[in-house]
Amino acid sequence: MRHEGGLGAGREREPSVKVEVHVRPGDAQRALRAEVLAGLCVNGRLKELSPKWLYDERGSQLFDEITRLSEYYPTRREREILEAHARDIARASGADTLLELGSGSSEKTRLLLDAMRSTGRLRRFVPFDVSEAFLRQAAGAVAREYPGLLVHAVVGDFERHLGQLPRGGRRLVAFLGGTIGNLKPAERARFYAELSAGLRQGDGLLLGTDLLKCRQRLFAAYNDGAGVTAEFNRNVLKVLNRELGADFEPEAFEHLAPFDEENGWVEMRLISTRPQAVRLPALERHVNFAEGEVLRTEVSCKFRPEQVEAELAEAGLRLTERWTDAAGDFALSLALKR
Ligand code: SAH
Ligand code: AVI
Repeated sequence: MRHEGGLGAGREREPSVKVEVHVRPGDAQRALRAEVLAGLCVNGRLKELSPKWLYDERGSQLFDEITRLSEYYPTRREREILEAHARDIARASGADTLLELGSGSSEKTRLLLDAMRSTGRLRRFVPFDVSEAFLRQAAGAVAREYPGLLVHAVVGDFERHLGQLPRGGRRLVAFLGGTIGNLKPAERARFYAELSAGLRQGDGLLLGTDLLKCRQRLFAAYNDGAGVTAEFNRNVLKVLNRELGADFEPEAFEHLAPFDEENGWVEMRLISTRPQAVRLPALERHVNFAEGEVLRTEVSCKFRPEQVEAELAEAGLRLTERWTDAAGDFALSLALKR
């Protein structure tokens, strides 16, 4: 673990951000190699990568662009709920520390920070994300906007480092945007159990979940007309080229994100437009793609509200309140550790 003065160091009037790093570039590269060996290089198996590799600096910027697309409703809907209920959330949680998992730009989070500040209790903000450069920028921006707030950024993987979340105070963990849906059911159960194990009685989880809806709207949200989601998806191939010296041609893969009714998830795919062999020099391997072969880069689960409640309860997290937007597209659930 590395502690640093961080973004503000050496610059006048820049508030200092403490940065704790659990994922160093070398660790990330080793993990990526292992995943590519297991997920891409085994013949006869569906090729798959974890969605976390989508978020290098460019990927994080592209995701931010997605949030502004007319077709991509989740961010707007979640903001609508926060605008209406951030004060209720701040009051009900009684927290002085806000931790945010998969924090990204922390843009909507400011609504929570404002509401917590108005209770007079807000002391500390802990943005936690795997994407270091983007996290540093986002944490610095929050520190500048909220003088006096302790900003303690954590570079970590929420599938590996939940046990090392900063302790102390009364904590509210926010997991916004529907990112929980990027975990498959078994991964989700593990995530809830690990998170719950590290919480103290009375600590809370504020969870954003995208709700099931008609497949046409889901399709439009993940296959936008301007092609931003396609660029976001193909960007992962550029990550593989940079990190592993691979020679993927992003344009030789098509983006498609259909809704899988049986699993209740939207699935982001890259589809090989022709037979091709891609070199992976860092692994001294190559990977073959048949024409039409799929590389799955993300699932995005859509939920029924009762399902969210049941999964949380299974992990010892009791739902205290749930809010939805006027259209019923998205839900925010507040659960407290029993
Ligand atoms: N919470 C923001 C951003 C959502 S995008 C919002 O609601 O708009 C998903 C974020 O989760 C990205 O910032 C990405 O870098 C981060 N992320 C994805 N997988 C992660 C993992 N395994 N551990 C930590 N952060 C992760
Ligand atoms: C971050 N996550 C909740 C987004 C989602 O909707 O699953 C990522 C995304 N993928 C394609 N568009 C947006």
